[in-house]
Amino acid sequence: MYMITNYLKKHYMKKSTIYDCSILEIDKHHHEKGNISVVENGKTVPFNVKRVYYLYDVPGGESRGGHAHKELQQFIVAASGSFDVTLDDGELKRTFTINRPYRGLLVVPGIWRELDNFSSGSVCLVLASSEYSADDYIRDYEEFKAYKKNNQ
Ligand code: TYD
Repeated sequence: MYMITNYLKKHYMKKSTIYDCSILEIDKHHHEKGNISVVENGKTVPFNVKRVYYLYDVPGGESRGGHAHKELQQFIVAASGSFDVTLDDGELKRTFTINRPYRGLLVVPGIWRELDNFSSGSVCLVLASSEYSADDYIRDYEEFKAYKKNNQ
């Protein structure tokens, strides 16, 4: 299995692009007393959620991100407020304004991302496909460009 997976990766896997990333709708249960949105593994997101983290109290004018992941998939939701996510596949860039708790942005591996324009009190909820691993990060943009040329 391992050998087959590696063979497929080497010979058939295309490079990920910003077009592989998209806004996905989250189930919304509307109630007069307030709404509930539900994310389920394999149903709302095309991966199993292994980790949840959230960014909050981001100072005005601050930006986050500035890296890519080699394997990690993420689903980014504005649980509250709004912010912008700029995705970059090494050739094309696209900025998404994330501002609804019932929609999220799927970010596939091999995509550079920057988050900015956080509104006051905003909460950026991130659902991730694996546990934290520092080795999965590419934090240097030139390294990222070289990675995209050679790998995915
Ligand atoms: P980082 O992913 O670089 O944050 P952002 O993309 O929002 O700017 O993480 C910032 C710091 O937090 C970094 O030192 C690693 C640590 N961290 C963890 O220890 N575990 C985690 O799950 C995450 C997301 C970050």
